[in-house]
Amino acid sequence: MDTFLKPLGPVCAVIGAQWGDEGKGKVIDILAEHFDVIARACGGANAGHTIVVNGKKHVFHLLPAGSLHEGKKILLGSGMVIHLPTLVEEIQTLRDAGVDVVPRLGISTEAHIVLDYYRDIDTVMEQRRTEGNGKKIGTTNRGIGPAYTEKAARTGMRMGDLRAFFSSPMKANLQQELQRRKSLAKEMYGVDVDTAKEESMLRAAYDAIGTCLVPMEIIYDFLDAKKRILVEGAQATLLDIDHGTYPYVTSSSTTAAGALQGLGLPPNALTSCIGVAKAYCTRVGEGTFLTEETGAIGERLRERGGEYGATTGRPRRCGWLHMPDLNFSSRINGCTCWNITKLDVLDEEDVVRVGGVDESGFLSLEEFPGWKTSTRGITQFADLPERAQTFLRHIEDKTSIPVQFIGTGPGREEMIIRP
Ligand code: GDP
Ligand code: IMO
Ligand code: MG
Repeated sequence: MDTFLKPLGPVCAVIGAQWGDEGKGKVIDILAEHFDVIARACGGANAGHTIVVNGKKHVFHLLPAGSLHEGKKILLGSGMVIHLPTLVEEIQTLRDAGVDVVPRLGISTEAHIVLDYYRDIDTVMEQRRTEGNGKKIGTTNRGIGPAYTEKAARTGMRMGDLRAFFSSPMKANLQQELQRRKSLAKEMYGVDVDTAKEESMLRAAYDAIGTCLVPMEIIYDFLDAKKRILVEGAQATLLDIDHGTYPYVTSSSTTAAGALQGLGLPPNALTSCIGVAKAYCTRVGEGTFLTEETGAIGERLRERGGEYGATTGRPRRCGWLHMPDLNFSSRINGCTCWNITKLDVLDEEDVVRVGGVDESGFLSLEEFPGWKTSTRGITQFADLPERAQTFLRHIEDKTSIPVQFIGTGPGREEMIIRP
């Protein structure tokens, strides 16, 4: 077994340490080869996880980023909210690329469905927030908030309900259910629901993935069979509904604990947690960002890093790494190591800054001289310029966690993996 794998143990979670888009997809794809089950725990199509394999880009919104690896079981957990047309489209895109995931895909019957009109409610809620207290969140408009609202109100529609609608001998009345929702959506949000469209989307999805529905307890079969499970976090720690920068957060629990909850895994099952953070920092949407660079530096990072949302195409706000945030993420997730990504994006900076706190509790920016040479594609730590090594060692010193994985480009092979 590769030496880096041993400390990860059989159940490893990959969790974003910042505001998302850290590059979780890439490390998931690299590690997937060494695991038996790749399980996505929470969130929905607000996620965009990009991998680049043989120069070809693949973006995953609902399926785990490890899905390209044949023979691996893929699980979509109970904590997820699933927009079915997006899932069906994603499955088809992979099929077109020669990969059929359906025979090895399991979808928890407890996962919630994002009905199409939830996206219209998402839009209305953003308008109301803007007109109300001006606190627009800048959501991805994928119906995530409305889906988790329904879930918390205990009025949601779940994946298991599809069976009741379409194949139980005592078929539940879907039209009646959709009519009820139509009146409520009109009354509460002024949203028009096209019930025929919703019904046909649900039916098409049931035809496509009905065979994939599984009880979440399947995870215990995997544990009992000593299968290696890779837990794919979505969104990131600072977007967590409880522990993030509320109200500028998503509506799910995005920490390691949230991922365990979303998959029905007991806390003591987790053997490692990789915290993923960019060598700098980005954020899409509104909310605080202490180390943000709004001028030329931010623009440069955005262009070099290709910092445009994988889901919405929105330009990402860019700034420097913030050490207190990394420390917080490491503590709350119980991170055992870091994957610092996109080191190569800093290659041309004269000075690399890292945020901290001064004696008065204000932001301080520590400066590191830039390495001004290409790190693109480097795969050995020792081959990194001395100044880049110093920068990475600083992260280790400040967080007391080893930097085990270092991204040096978007490609699958552009990664330093330290033993
Ligand atoms: P995720 O949501 O955490 O999976 O991250 P995204 O896929 O939304 O955004 C990360 C972006 O950075 C993607 O376009 C990746 O292809 C790219 N990326 C990942 N790691 C690296 C890296 O080490 N260097 C560079 N230059 N790009 C990277
Ligand atoms: P991945 O998994 C970056 C952000 C949105 C917005 C806030 C709430 O690719 O890292 P939502 O649509 O969830 O109600 O939006 O959360 N957001 C993300 N930002 N990466 C993501 O996912 C995100 N998922 C949600 O931009 O600020
Ligand atoms: Mg993303």
